[in-house]
Amino acid sequence: MNTRILTVSATHPAPALIHEAAHLIQRGELVAMPTETVYGLAGDALNPTAVQAIFAAKGRPSSDPLIVHVADFDQLHFIARDIPAQFSLLASTFWPGPLTIILPKHPLLDTRITAGRDTVAVRMPDHAVARALIQQSGCPLVAPSANLFSRPSPTTAAHVMDDLGGRIPLILDAGACRIGVESTIIDITAHPPTVLRHGGVPAEQLTTLLGDIVVRQRIIGTHEAAPAPGMLLKHYAPRTPLIVYRGATTHLYRAILTHPQDSTLWLCYDEDVVYAQTHHIPHMSLGSHHDSTTIARNLFAVLRTADHADTSLLVVAEPQGDGVAAAVRDRLFRASEGRVVVLSDT
Ligand code: TXA
Ligand code: MG
Repeated sequence: MNTRILTVSATHPAPALIHEAAHLIQRGELVAMPTETVYGLAGDALNPTAVQAIFAAKGRPSSDPLIVHVADFDQLHFIARDIPAQFSLLASTFWPGPLTIILPKHPLLDTRITAGRDTVAVRMPDHAVARALIQQSGCPLVAPSANLFSRPSPTTAAHVMDDLGGRIPLILDAGACRIGVESTIIDITAHPPTVLRHGGVPAEQLTTLLGDIVVRQRIIGTHEAAPAPGMLLKHYAPRTPLIVYRGATTHLYRAILTHPQDSTLWLCYDEDVVYAQTHHIPHMSLGSHHDSTTIARNLFAVLRTADHADTSLLVVAEPQGDGVAAAVRDRLFRASEGRVVVLSDT
């Protein structure tokens, strides 16, 4: 299949381009679309052929459920029911935006979307192209991140092309995604509400709004059966092995120097660049270590570019801080398949 890329304005998408994409969606085909978090692979949530095609195009196991994307609250009636009380508070505060909310599933919603579960993940993206595509298609859109299974999520159309070129007919290219990591997922069918994935909305903001919430951090190995979705360890992974350094920074530079320089690439911060240059250590910066917003925006692109460099090992220090830094730490942990080295000052 020939994959076309259509360039579209991120803020004022031309109706003719959206119409063309929506026409494909209405025929049960798939379109990669930009959102404020990462690019999604979109299909009609109410068309079983499209739902099935999404799993096939990504090489995603059918046990991993999909997020349903809506453009307005009316579309929720097709998807969820018995909506818990916390929903309106969360949605009025964070929608449209990078928060996915787990709700009780509508009995008629395709069980393939939810991987047989009685809950469904829903989100209203904050991106003019995604919103216009949902509206013009006239249906909610299922959209997982538009990467091959277990690869880093795509934050540009070129990333989507690298993974899904030849597998889908169309990519809408609206430039790089603003946030760069996926949405935060909160399950409000659980008591207390449970954060299942760190992402664009910091967990602290959810605690401020709802009070008592739980953050589930349990992660399991690739070969164990997942008791709940989204807990697989190997995820977002570059092909080159990655080691994450955690904790005290005083020993970090010495630890970096222990790696052979001809085969190691250091994913560093702006503040480390002079040191890396002085010691001739190959490096790529994620941004200032004070600026987790920029680090999040650069993360997946840096992981993908690093993968193309001719090295056998990637090393990175975990970013400190709260907010979206928690999402970056989670993605690095998974990208490294848990290869975390704890540095201590003592
Ligand atoms: O930012 C995002 O959320 C992006 C953009 C495209 O919207 N989408 C995204 O989708 O990250 P995906 O499929 O790559 O990740 C969705 C996660 C998966 O880990 C899945 O297991 C989890 O959501 N999920 C979906 N339905 C669920 C459910 N009913 N209960 C628990 N987890 C669920
Ligand atoms: Mg994904």
